[in-house]
Amino acid sequence: MSTIKNILLQFDTDPAASSFDAVVAMDSGVDTLLQYPGVRSENLTGLVHGAMFTRSLSKLRHTAIFVGGSNIEVAEQIYQQVLASFFGPIRVSVVMDANGCNTTSVAAVESGFSGLWTLGDMVHDETKPIRALVMGGTGPVGQRIATLLLDRGCHVVLHSRSVEKAGAVADRLRLGSQNAQIESLTKTGAELNLELPRFDLVFNAGAAGVQTLDEQAMAVLTQSRGVIVDLNAVPPAGIAGIAAHDHAKPMGQRLVYGALAVGGIKMKLHRAVIHACFRANDREFNLREIAALSTNLLTTEPGAC
Ligand SMILES: NC(=O)c1ccc[n+]([C@@H]2O[C@H](COP(=O)([O-])OP(=O)(O)OC[C@H]3O[C@@H](n4cnc5c(N)ncnc54)[C@H](OP(=O)(O)O)[C@@H]3O)[C@@H](O)[C@H]2O)c1
Repeated sequence: MSTIKNILLQFDTDPAASSFDAVVAMDSGVDTLLQYPGVRSENLTGLVHGAMFTRSLSKLRHTAIFVGGSNIEVAEQIYQQVLASFFGPIRVSVVMDANGCNTTSVAAVESGFSGLWTLGDMVHDETKPIRALVMGGTGPVGQRIATLLLDRGCHVVLHSRSVEKAGAVADRLRLGSQNAQIESLTKTGAELNLELPRFDLVFNAGAAGVQTLDEQAMAVLTQSRGVIVDLNAVPPAGIAGIAAHDHAKPMGQRLVYGALAVGGIKMKLHRAVIHACFRANDREFNLREIAALSTNLLTTEPGAC
């Protein structure tokens, strides 16, 4: 009896398709990976139709599309265009995880809540929402972390170097979430340090290789309860004193998670999403769908603020 192969079409917006995404695909049960670098709006429809019209409806679940590339905004547009190219039941499952932006954000938020659960601080009190600070909150990962935190009812503060940039992102996220409590912060140094103790969750989603919180900030932060998650794996540490492999490591009153510890969860999630694509022909995995998948997959307790 012949078995039908699971084929993943890797649509990448960069001139060379991501080797990272390719390796993860092959580790996720993909039999054949077809890479399409330099995917643009103009050449997309034909590629999608090629995926749609080559297998019978009952076999379409064995074909899926992964949208990647280093320019996350362009990849997001490509993802939306792929979805718009389908009609009726003739479709294949699609994942959007350009530069790991969605799986990383979900893994970061899962780590943060897992830490709060471990500390015993997951108290549901609508009058006192969990307060979260997102350093580098205007970047693609920071914005997605903020979106997930708002979805869980947190009070979110986005940190940025620019008042205008942070304000614009906060305004946009406020529109996308019901009853969103979001504000922005541009303080630095001693002024910023005074603010830190009020945050239950602190995420660093600042640029790779940039330290957003130094030793003085950590000395203040670790005197109050909560969780700190650093996503920067490129030295120096994004938050002073957090090592990339730290996983729920106690530091003063806080638990800390480093970039590679979060990366382990991200990898598990990335593989699970690819697996899930081949279970049906109509799955759509963007940020919130990946977050929904993670609550069933990861062993942490699902949290609400
Ligand atoms: N572990 C993983 O699997 C994984 C996967 C993907 C990403 N990451 C990490 O997640 C983090 C966020 O990724 P991203 O792509 O969202 O980052 P990004 O867009 O490069 O930067 C995020 C924000 O950092 C601020 N920033 C940029 N350059 C800076 C500088 N020189 N000094 C101070 N601030 C600066 C900017 O905010 P303002 O201009 O508003 O200040 C920017 O919006 C990175 O550290 C990345 O390496 C980890």
